[in-house]
Amino acid sequence: MEIEKIRKEALAELEKAANAASIEKLQVKYLGRKGEISLLLRTLKDLSVEERRHTGPKLQSLKNELEGLFSNRLSVNKEVSREKSVDLTAPGKKISRGHLHPLTLVDADIRKIFLSMNFSVVEGPEVETEYYNFDALNVPEFHPAREMWDTFWLKRDPAQKNEEKLLLRTHTSPVQIRYMEKNEPPFQIIAPGRTFRYEATDASHEINFYQLEGLMVGKSVSLANFKFVVEEFFKKFFAGQKIEFRYRPSYFPFVEPGVEVIIKLNDKWLEVMGAGMVHSMVFEYAGYNPRDWQGFAFGVGIDRLAMIKYKIPDIRMFYSGDLRFIKQF
Ligand code: DAH
Repeated sequence: MEIEKIRKEALAELEKAANAASIEKLQVKYLGRKGEISLLLRTLKDLSVEERRHTGPKLQSLKNELEGLFSNRLSVNKEVSREKSVDLTAPGKKISRGHLHPLTLVDADIRKIFLSMNFSVVEGPEVETEYYNFDALNVPEFHPAREMWDTFWLKRDPAQKNEEKLLLRTHTSPVQIRYMEKNEPPFQIIAPGRTFRYEATDASHEINFYQLEGLMVGKSVSLANFKFVVEEFFKKFFAGQKIEFRYRPSYFPFVEPGVEVIIKLNDKWLEVMGAGMVHSMVFEYAGYNPRDWQGFAFGVGIDRLAMIKYKIPDIRMFYSGDLRFIKQF
């Protein structure tokens, strides 16, 4: 019986076929256009009707059977050879993880230290009014002190109803006023945030930088309290480093007296902070009676602290988007 013989032969050969190529060869040998089964199918027409009725279906079912078997074996074989090509001992691909920006790290550090001293964190808007950024801080229009802050003024929208001039805040000090308007002392707050100056940039100046404002108000808050808080802060911020403090008289329109905090780190004296006792005019603008309250305020550059802590020589690196810089933190 020829059909049965072909079947046995094909199965035996398939059994022996070791790889995809030899299975494909068998496919051609049996099922190809000139394959054995195809040839037999072509001879059907020469058979008698009786023989054809008998042989035709048998041949067709053998063809179907072999097609199924071959393609099954072929896909299993490909699956296996794909598995073989995976080298399980090869070292894995390194997954690169994201980094927190150094300014984010320092900001988080600062918040943690002040929170531990019972300060609250508050925020204010980056687009400010002239009133909060200057007037209410005792810097009236045409006051020479306005020169201390080169300002980005916003174009006035002709549709704008009120007459207020808008600007990008030049410091975080306006948050002092906004907070005092809505809250009663005693309190102690910090206000970290983004600030802007219309300046030429260089290694220590950027048009966009970050500041931290501090404000503590109570019945008898004094410079001695300030000294304690600020020294506690810097000692924790520069933990493990030897640090010395100096206070120099200074001028800021919103404090009286005003001081500058200078710290000695690695044998170098560095100006790090402006501060002072809140000016009575500022209390009045905020709606407090200056006879009832006293307090201290301070302002510090977050970028500057980050530069000192991580020995970063150029403030512009923070905003350069250079991954070689960012990845070091
Ligand atoms: N706002 C000041 C600046 O940007 C810094 C400052 C100085 C803030 C003295 C204060 C302060 O609160 O008391 O230059």
